[in-house]
Amino acid sequence: MEIRRFASSDDAASAAAARVVEVVRDKPHAVIGLPAGRTMVPVYAEMVRLARSAPSQWAQVRTFQVDEFIGLGRGDAGSFRSFLERHLLDALKLAADHVAFLNGEASDALAECERYERAIAEAGGLDLQLLGIGANGHIGFNEPGDSLTARTHLATLHDETRRANAMWFENDVLRVPHRALSMGMATLLGARTVVLVATGDSKADAVARAVTGTVTTKLPASFLQLHRAAEFYVDAAAAKGLMPGPGGPGLH
Ligand code: GLP
Repeated sequence: MEIRRFASSDDAASAAAARVVEVVRDKPHAVIGLPAGRTMVPVYAEMVRLARSAPSQWAQVRTFQVDEFIGLGRGDAGSFRSFLERHLLDALKLAADHVAFLNGEASDALAECERYERAIAEAGGLDLQLLGIGANGHIGFNEPGDSLTARTHLATLHDETRRANAMWFENDVLRVPHRALSMGMATLLGARTVVLVATGDSKADAVARAVTGTVTTKLPASFLQLHRAAEFYVDAAAAKGLMPGPGGPGLH
């Protein structure tokens, strides 16, 4: 696990975006997992800005969204698909068959999850998994609990997570779906590189526990300690529970 600390959230976001571009430069047909969330807004804005000067760099890239609310699809403003299209994908102009979404409106959720896992495998697996982190330590919609699920699955959201997502539904928590489809822990950990971005005070506790705590299903992000190439991009506020020190995270 490598921790990269930055003075501001914008600096963390820019560095994470630059890291994505580096992966794409090294491997033009990279397969990238994309999360939604507030944290990703400045990351995607910077990726779009960088892509303007080198649009062809993205021609062969393939993407897979990390998670999607049940019952929502491309036409719903609150869907993660529309978030990704709005903030990133429309601007990158990838070929339609290079962009994969989880269908939250699928009549058979299990079949949809199996289809998605097959599609990731057929694409050669994920080269880069971008991630945010929930204040409770969730990644994707893998919520803390007594157990975690390995593969793409139907997840039940905690109330805390639904409240955190109310902003996509005009701050009306009652409209936030109770369930979602999400890549599983093994799907996420199977990525060759993981870049997690965490900014703001509300993430400090989850970041500290993910980096220095016990690996536990009670904090899904802690499993990233077991990943051979997990990088955390954190701003000062999100890093405040981490001790600076020799070999420890310094400011970039
Ligand atoms: C959401 C999503 C995640 C996201 C995380 C952080 O609930 N399921 O994919 O990374 O929580 O979101 P935010 O960046 O808005 O804090």
